[in-house]
This record gives sequence, structure tokens and C-alpha cells, in this order.
Amino acid sequence: MPARAVDPQVLTGENLLARFTALDAFLTRHQALWKPRPFTHLQLPWEASYPELATWLRGRSLEDAESAHNQPALLDAPEPFATLAAMSLALSTVDELPSHALEAAGHRLNVDVPGRKWRQIEAFASRLNFADTPKHWLDWCSGKGHLGRRLLQTGQQLTCLEYDPALVASGQALSQRHQLPALHVEQDVLAANAASLLKADHTPVALHACGDLHVRLIQLASAAGCKQLAIAPCCYNRISISRYSPISSAAMASGLQLSLDDLALPMSETVTAGARVRRQRDTSMARRLAFDLLQRQLRGVDEYLPTPSLPSTWLDKPFADYCHHLAELKELSTIGQQDWPALEAAGWQRLAHVRNLELLRGLFRRPLELWLVLDRALFLLEQGYRIRLGTFCETPLTPRNFLLLAERS
Ligand SMILES: C[S@@+](CC[C@H](N)C(=O)[O-])C[C@H]1O[C@@H](n2cnc3c(N)ncnc32)[C@H](O)[C@@H]1O
Repeated sequence: MPARAVDPQVLTGENLLARFTALDAFLTRHQALWKPRPFTHLQLPWEASYPELATWLRGRSLEDAESAHNQPALLDAPEPFATLAAMSLALSTVDELPSHALEAAGHRLNVDVPGRKWRQIEAFASRLNFADTPKHWLDWCSGKGHLGRRLLQTGQQLTCLEYDPALVASGQALSQRHQLPALHVEQDVLAANAASLLKADHTPVALHACGDLHVRLIQLASAAGCKQLAIAPCCYNRISISRYSPISSAAMASGLQLSLDDLALPMSETVTAGARVRRQRDTSMARRLAFDLLQRQLRGVDEYLPTPSLPSTWLDKPFADYCHHLAELKELSTIGQQDWPALEAAGWQRLAHVRNLELLRGLFRRPLELWLVLDRALFLLEQGYRIRLGTFCETPLTPRNFLLLAERS
């Protein structure tokens, strides 16, 4: 498995297909390593093939896993980890798009915008340099329309589409307060009538519109004759069907079948949370893993049983009560005598195993995300657009940092 060196680059033209093809081969070949989720398996199928790697990962602590989570490729783990890590890095590295200095923002335009969101908006805006100066921005799934307002320059117009009435009203009030020529429209962009709202002279922009929402934009904007658009995709698993439906010819020809669980992999990177939030998240997962051991014993079936998401107040219950109540919820048979401290400890031990075993899946997180973004890019290429695909900010600002720019004459 030689790691083929790929120069990091802003992807354009032929590079798009070449990179897609290489990623497709990598992801397809190693499906058995990244599709099964450690959370739902006591033993992963690949552990029998790579016992040294499995034992090494299982020997590490929860803290070890936490510190490697964001950059699993840097972990010095036994083979085939190192080889796969090198390939993952080579195949998923994409350059930052060139940035330009932005016009100063309007007076106090950022006051109502959370700091991190504002920095994402500034980074996104600084990468847009279309050959034709936009006349009319279309902020797609705009929330309150912060991105659109930041882009709006004298002589331009702005339309914001959003389906949450409260966000539409707040957005309209903000645009009025700043005396900006913006129209905030309450619109479900998945509804049939959304197509009529896109005009050829619109420049659509979408910052973190989820799965179906940004795919719909890509399809409608190309059909409406929009000359240029910019999309930073997110939440690839928020789709209305249970399997991924590719849109480009190359992805349609691929043998890769993606379930909703697979599509959640790119989103499984967590940005550093505070100690309290981390502890709560870990406790919740350790309890679920402990309960999983219990339910296998109660049912006499050695299989994972999905449980519903529970209010965080459940974590305040003593562990035994938590298990009793969850067993009732799942209509399981009487629990009987249990060694609760031992079961709780087993849940924590499993959590350390799960988190460390997940580091192998982590090597496929970014390649899969780029595969998905390239499906969108290649579709737009087929529609006659010139494409530039790069990143618009560093990962800590948002891990969803791919930006797809499309232009056609
Ligand atoms: C992750 S937020 C991004 C908002 C904004 N672009 C930003 O970056 O702050 C996604 C937005 O899509 C909106 N949305 C979800 N489904 C929608 C739909 N079917 N039609 C229109 N907007 C929708 C949500 O209400 C939310 O405001």
C-alpha cells in the first residue's frame, strides 16, 4: 500500500476527478476498517486481521484517545495504521483558497453575531472573488442573514431564504436597523415552489446548509442559470432518504454505498469542549455502553440495541436507577441481581476501547468528507461551471471548512 504523494492544492478542473478517483479507491478498498462502528460492536471484524493494532489501541486510556481525536493521522500506532494515515493525509489535504482584504464591515454589523460565527463569515467572505461582481446575493438557509448582510455592498441587493419564522423576523429587523436593502423570505427551500425564487442574476451563498438543503441549491441554481455560487457544506447525513444518492456521474458509477451512519462519520470530529461538557458526554456514553452489556445479557442476544436519546437529568440518577429505567423504556425483562459498580466500571473501560478503536475510523473521516464534497463539485463541473475547491478557515474555527466556488460564463 504505497502512499501516493498528492500535492495539496486548491482543486480545479481535471484535478477534481483525479482526486475523486483516488479517494474512491481508498475508501472502497478499506470499507471493512471504517464502516463498522466500535460503539455498536464488542469486537470489530477487522481486529482479527490486525491483532497487534487492536491490542495496542485497546491498551490505551480515554485521555490518550481524547488527545489523538482531532489528528488521528499523527498517532504512532502499529501497521497498517501508519500507512493508512499517510494515505489519508495525502488524499484529503486541500489548500486554503486565496483570500483578499474585505471592505470594512458596516458599523456594529457584528453586534448580534456570536464571535465564532462572525469569524467564519469573515473567512468565508474573504475567499469570494468572482470574475463578475455580484448584483444580488441569495443567502440560502440564511438563519438571521448575517452572512448576506456582511457580503452586501452599495448597489447590491440581498434576498435571504429561511424557513424558521422567528429567524426570518429577527433577520428582517436587523437588516432594517442597519438600513440595508435586504428581503427576508420565509421559505422551505425543499418545497416545490422554491425553484421559482432563484433567478439567473442571483449569486447564491450557503454557509453550513445541511445535506439535502445545499444539494437542492446546487441543483436549482444550475438549472436557474446562476453564473456563480459559493457553498460551505455541512451535515451530509441530514437527508430524507436512508442511503446516499450521488449526484455526479463519477459518484454514481462508484460502488460505494453510504448509509446514514456512514454519512455521519465526517461529522464525528468534535471541537474541543470544556471539561464539564466533556465529562457529561463521556458519562452518558459510558452508561450507554454499560447498559449495552446488560441488555445483551438480559435478552440473551449478543447484539447492540439502539436506545433513545435521554434528557441530561438521567445522568443525575444513580447508575442502577438509570439502568432500571432504561430497561423499562425498552420493555426488557426483570433485571435481577447485578454488580452495579462492576458494570459501571465495564462501561468506562468500553468507552476507552471505543474511543481508541475509533481513531482508525478517524483516518477516513476527512477522505469521506472530501469524496462527498467532490461529488457536488463534479456535478457542477458537468453543468458547465469552473470549480475551485479549497478551505476557507482553520479547523478549530469550524471542522466544516471546505468551500466550493463555482462560476460559468
Ligand atoms: C446550520 S444553520 C446555518 C444558518 C446560517 N447560514 C449560518 O451560517 O449561520 C441552517 C439553517 O437552515 C435552516 N433550514 C433548515 N431547513 C430548512 C428548509 N427546509 N428551508 C429553509 N431553511 C431551512 C435552519 O432553520 C437554519 O437556520
